[in-house]
Amino acid sequence: MRSAGLGSSETENILGRLKSLFVETDSRLIAHYYTEGVIQDLAEASGGFVGDSLEMARFGRDCDASNLIVAGVRFMGETAKILSPDKRVFMPTLEATCSLDLACPVIEFSEFCDQFPDHAVVVYANTSAAVKARADWVVTSSIAVEVIEHLVSKGQKIIWAPDKHLGRYIERCTGAEMLIWEGACIVHEEFKAAGVSDMRAVYKDAAVLAHPESPASVLAIADFVGSTTQIIKAAKTMTNSQFIVATDLGIFHKLNKVLPGKEFIVAPTAGNDATCRSCASCPWMGMNSLETLEMLLVKLADRMEIGDSNHEIEINEAVSEQAMIPLQKMLNFAAQNKILVEGKA
Ligand code: 13P
Ligand code: SF4
Repeated sequence: MRSAGLGSSETENILGRLKSLFVETDSRLIAHYYTEGVIQDLAEASGGFVGDSLEMARFGRDCDASNLIVAGVRFMGETAKILSPDKRVFMPTLEATCSLDLACPVIEFSEFCDQFPDHAVVVYANTSAAVKARADWVVTSSIAVEVIEHLVSKGQKIIWAPDKHLGRYIERCTGAEMLIWEGACIVHEEFKAAGVSDMRAVYKDAAVLAHPESPASVLAIADFVGSTTQIIKAAKTMTNSQFIVATDLGIFHKLNKVLPGKEFIVAPTAGNDATCRSCASCPWMGMNSLETLEMLLVKLADRMEIGDSNHEIEINEAVSEQAMIPLQKMLNFAAQNKILVEGKA
């Protein structure tokens, strides 16, 4: 397999150099399913990990390398650092953010929460360390419904941030009435229910798999809604031979690899020439490439200075300690309720 923009032999050469650099620097690569396929394969081939954001957090915490290299977006790197304060955590670029994180500035959010002191504050993992530190619970999409069900059973009132689509989906699943922040994912928000229905008329036996950051109209016609890992598992379990998939294109690499006999079709966003801002491809996930990874690893091997502002995740100690509490609660809850304990798809 070759990387976008590189020839096959260039790709092979850079992969060889990166594998040696991981060993030389005692680093482990943790990649998200939305990164380029060649990066996902490299993570697996070099003793690292590919997974959804919950599993990435867990792998980073449990792995014994001195350095974690997170190929994903910044909140994933920050989560890894919060859970592993004694490890150094690096990213190909710290500019890889997320529209949900950007939509939830800590001062505004904290002022909002202060108005409702009797509400439990539950935030999605796609937030800054500071927002996590303001929360009672952090959740990812693989565990959000279960955690809110648990809180509802205790009679808790809830503030949810920042993804409004996921928040409303949770409300529909659990019957909770939450105060919901108005953020959205620029990738998932673009999927169109009408387009999915038209596509279904063409691929009559196809099941629709959707990430819960998609709009309610798309989720309403989906056969399965879940996190990235849960989508891969559903594709394995369901007997359909075709699937229309409403999430970032990066996931098709894993789907095609583990299920070569099935066909995966990207859900419509309105087309590449239309006005969608992302067309099923997260611009920040796209900042991870073999070249940016190599730049980082070469610097690390040359004794990169602590706190390199392009690459190293650093979090204020007090914020990190405070953010660890709701993150640890999520991991404990996942372990107690056996949520995705079997790990990789
Ligand atoms: P997952 O937790 O399902 O991997 O989702 C992370 C994400 O950013 C989806 O857009
Ligand atoms: Fe954020 Fe959406 Fe990109 Fe996921 S796909 S990292 S939610 S912008």
